[in-house]
Amino acid sequence: MANDKVSIHGAWASRWVFILAATGSAVGLGNIWKFPYMTGLYGGGAFVAMYLVCIALVGLPIMLAETLIGRRGRQSPVNSMRSLAKESGGSRYWSVAAVIGMVAALLILSFYSVVAGWSLDYIIGMGQGNFSGISAEGAGAAFGGLTDNPWRLTLWHTLFMLGTGFVIAKGVVAGLERSLRIMMPMLFVLLLILLVYSFTTGHFMQGFHFLFHFDPSKVQGGILAAMGHAFFTLSVGVGSIMVYGSYMPKKSSIGATVLTVGLLDTLVALTAGLALFPIVFAAGLEPGGGPGLMFVTLPIAFGNVAFGQVMGLVFFVLVTLAAWSSSISMLEPAVAYFVERTGRSRTAVTSMLAVFCWVVGMGTVLSFNIGADAKFFVFANDGFHLFQWGAEGGKNFFEGIDYLTSRILLPIGGLAFAMFAGWVMTRDSVRDELSIKSPLLFNMALWLIRVVAPIGVLIVFVAELTK
Ligand code: TRP
Repeated sequence: MANDKVSIHGAWASRWVFILAATGSAVGLGNIWKFPYMTGLYGGGAFVAMYLVCIALVGLPIMLAETLIGRRGRQSPVNSMRSLAKESGGSRYWSVAAVIGMVAALLILSFYSVVAGWSLDYIIGMGQGNFSGISAEGAGAAFGGLTDNPWRLTLWHTLFMLGTGFVIAKGVVAGLERSLRIMMPMLFVLLLILLVYSFTTGHFMQGFHFLFHFDPSKVQGGILAAMGHAFFTLSVGVGSIMVYGSYMPKKSSIGATVLTVGLLDTLVALTAGLALFPIVFAAGLEPGGGPGLMFVTLPIAFGNVAFGQVMGLVFFVLVTLAAWSSSISMLEPAVAYFVERTGRSRTAVTSMLAVFCWVVGMGTVLSFNIGADAKFFVFANDGFHLFQWGAEGGKNFFEGIDYLTSRILLPIGGLAFAMFAGWVMTRDSVRDELSIKSPLLFNMALWLIRVVAPIGVLIVFVAELTK
């Protein structure tokens, strides 16, 4: 059965624009900021290995599933799943997964915007030459000075959220393509320049070893983190890729497209790791330094090379742009849904959702300073507390939202999307969407979606529960 419907929200001019948009969504703070610091926290090579396995066996099949659901449904994720379930006689409750995803995406945007704000602040810092000749202590103090100051964080968070809302209100198709075409290659070139610098630190092999030395004893500790990050970095599990898939032209192969996006994303993350860790070791910093890792190490690099200030400035501009092309994909599923549901304009819907994310994001802003003692998910001697002020363990607001989304909501969403594409949609409609000619390849793809990815998610959940 042919399916020539077009989404009311717009359509990409070609499959290349989808690749550009999906890569823009996938490549972001997850690659340059989060991947290195998670690798540092969860034991280096073991984490990287599990991350790569999760990308290949779980992340990519789910990305395939999301893209094909979106392209077949041609509506917001919630309504696409609802109508496809109807078409194939499945339960309409499958669309609950897309509702959860939509909320998860908004929660992610709330803290993402705060961190993207840090890189806005660093653009100014680099421009003013604040980091010239800076030491490791100096760089640490500069980062602390930023996160201690709620007003400065709020300013940048607000600006970034306005920027995200602005593009989404205009429509994704218009502004995105031209900027991404220039931005993504430039970001990669600058990462390569950083990589060359990290060669000169004399600690390159130590960094390499840290990233790729597999220590089996560290596997159990980071397995859910690795899977959560595989979802995060590919933008899957919430409907971001699904909504982009719904703007994809009919005549294009989904399989090759998804592979391209996944490879580019992985390449950027590994390059960022290879560029950062030698600097970490050369400066005598801890690899397990947490969320500040990139914001402390990069100024040291840029502060101590010729033209470092200019390169640093350009670099943080690109990081901000990469974050921005990701943040819009977090807003789009909800915007598409509420436009369909309420019939209001994109601008009105976007404004309301952006305000919501901004308010939640203030929790993250405060969790780095005056609200640092507000703890969530506390496992204490006297039992579990969802919230406790001043608790020893537990997670602050930022860590709590990150945990809830990456470790719980994204995997659940991804599991549901794969099951839906694999078991609820008819085999014929999946075949029609994927348009993979070789029966062998098609069966492999279907098997990954139906069996491997769901079992992978479940194994990791069980491994975590029995830890
Ligand atoms: N993948 C992006 C990054 O690595 C972030 C992102 C965009 C995302 N859309 C998402 C993460 C949806 C989870 C869900 O920076």
